[in-house]
Amino acid sequence: MKNAGIEKILVSQEQIEKRIKELATQLDKDYAGKKPLCICILKGSFLFFSDLVKKMNIPLFIDFISVSSHANGRVKYLKDLETNVKGKHVLLVEDILDSGNTLYALKKDMESRDAESVKVVTLLDKKARRDAPIFSDYVGFTVEDEFAVGYGLDYAGEYRNLPYIGCLGHTKL
Ligand code: IMP
Ligand code: MG
Repeated sequence: MKNAGIEKILVSQEQIEKRIKELATQLDKDYAGKKPLCICILKGSFLFFSDLVKKMNIPLFIDFISVSSHANGRVKYLKDLETNVKGKHVLLVEDILDSGNTLYALKKDMESRDAESVKVVTLLDKKARRDAPIFSDYVGFTVEDEFAVGYGLDYAGEYRNLPYIGCLGHTKL
C-alpha cells in the first residue's frame, strides 16, 4: 500500500484543506488587483500548488519550474519558466523550506530577472534547519526536524500521492 512505512501523521488531510483555504483568503487580500504569477516548484509542490490556486479567487497566472540546488548557492534549472517575470508579482510556491538554499537562490534569480516583487509560500517550514538568510512569507505549518513525506513530498521518489503528510519510521530511512 502507498502508506507502507508511515510511522505517524504529521498533518492530516483535513488540516491541510483548512489551512489552504486560510492561505488562499490571505493571498486574495494581499494580491488584490496585482494578478500574481504563481510559480509551482516541481515536483514537491504539485498538489499544494493546485489546491492553493484552485481556492484563490483573484485572477492570476501560473507557471512551473524544476530545479536542483547546489551547495554553492546556485540553482540549476531542469525546467525553466515559460513566462517573462519582468514587472510581475511573483509568488514562489514550494513544498518545504528546509536549509533554505533552494528558495534563497530562486528568489535572488527572480529579482535579477526584474520581477516587481517576489514572495514565498511554503506548505511546511522546518525552521530548525535554516542555513540561508531566507524566510517564508506565507507558511502552512511549522514542523519539527523530521523527514516529512506525502502530499507532494517524497522519499526516493515515493509517497508523493499520499493525501496527508506523515513521517517515516527509522527502518525506512
Ligand atoms: P532546501 O534548499 O534545503 O530548503 O531544500 C528544500 C528541498 O529539499 C525541498 O523542496 C524538498 O524537495 C527537499 N526536502 C527537505 N526536507 C524534506 C523533507 O522533510 N521531506 C521531503 N523532502 C524534503
Ligand atoms: Mg522539492
